[in-house]
Amino acid sequence: MSSRVNLLAPEVRANPYPVFAELRRNAPVSQVDPGGLWAVTRYADAAAVLKNPQLFASEGFRQAYRPAWFSDYPMADSMLVMDPPHHTRLRALVNRAFGPPVLTRLEPRIRQFVEQLAAGLPTGRSVDFAEEWSVRIPLIVMADLLGLSPEVHPRLKRWADTFGSFTGIGPNDTERQEHMRATVAEARQHFQQVLEERRREPRDDLMSDLLRARVDGEALTDAELMGFMFLLVVAGMETTVHLMNHSAIRFRDEPELMGRLRADHSLIPRFVEEILRYEPPVHGIFRVTTQETELGGVRLPKGARMLVVLCSANRDEAQFPGADRFNLDRPGPQNLPFGHGIHFCLGAQLARLEARLGTEALVTRFSRLSPGEGPVRWNTSLVVRGPLSLPLVAHPA
Ligand code: HEM
Repeated sequence: MSSRVNLLAPEVRANPYPVFAELRRNAPVSQVDPGGLWAVTRYADAAAVLKNPQLFASEGFRQAYRPAWFSDYPMADSMLVMDPPHHTRLRALVNRAFGPPVLTRLEPRIRQFVEQLAAGLPTGRSVDFAEEWSVRIPLIVMADLLGLSPEVHPRLKRWADTFGSFTGIGPNDTERQEHMRATVAEARQHFQQVLEERRREPRDDLMSDLLRARVDGEALTDAELMGFMFLLVVAGMETTVHLMNHSAIRFRDEPELMGRLRADHSLIPRFVEEILRYEPPVHGIFRVTTQETELGGVRLPKGARMLVVLCSANRDEAQFPGADRFNLDRPGPQNLPFGHGIHFCLGAQLARLEARLGTEALVTRFSRLSPGEGPVRWNTSLVVRGPLSLPLVAHPA
């Protein structure tokens, strides 16, 4: 491959897998556009990077959340852009509050919600599944976790969309900068209110647990709490939305799948796991080298900005024979959709739960999903890949 691949070119967005297959074969650690990031495309190299935070650090990307036009964006205080020992302390504090009881509390609510939502989906005509199905489930879950009252729910989607575009805003893009600052201020005010209410009157919920959490007698600071709430909006919404979208696309493209899952619900967790391997919502994650090093036979300078391409690692033939085939019978998981190592996704079990319950509700109601009116439009991001709109027709079971 002579020239650099542009990962945001529309044809690459529509189907990036042949491009990554070529990189894995011929240039597994190589610079890509935009920005000359070093793309790591083989499974073994991706895992090696994620296992070694001393050499491939996250903190280097903190600056991306501290541009000259916004000095106190809360994501810059989140653990996603921290290394040990700061990350270790924060993660321990948050882990306490984010354990299995959260899932146990949420499961019946999610189940009831997805059954109602599926029952309300129109049949026999084109519907934008991204809008009417996929976004609704994480929206209700994240609003619950963040303690937002129902009248604030519609704003959460707008917040998630706006914060998700943060790193794409240029230094001269004053209009979008202003919009970002206003949206952050609006969300911050709501989150502040929730925290004050829970301080006064703790409840049986995540925010109260976070306020109570202590490690060695130390609590989360106000800035850390705020950073975590913003991180939840960014990390928990769009990712899960696209897990739902990719599941629906698979049902569209393999019409017999819904019947197979309806006949045997015990296959659904395997379906979710294979979707996560085959179409991981998080396509790439960032790291920066802390010293000169070598990876996959390539010398990297200190300060090299790396893109660990999870979607490519998950299609690596060396790890997954027949990797380009969606295979429900694949022994699993051993995949990397939620990252690996110290930053392993905190919401992985919750995302799996949402997908499992959502899939159960879909296959119970519908026999198949066929293409609807209009094209599928893909988003533009180096981190998350998914459709902006997904026209489908649902057929009753
Ligand atoms: C299908 C859905 C999801 C996918 C594919 C996903 C993927 C990921 C990945 C790849 C990372 C690692 C980032 C890195 O190493 O730099 C991560 C981290 C994280 N995720 Fe998720 N995620 C999903 C859903 C969620 C949900 C539902 C939540 C919360 C409710 C969540 C919360 C987090 C948090 C807090 C981190 C940061 C952990 C740390 O820095 O230690 N994620 N996620």
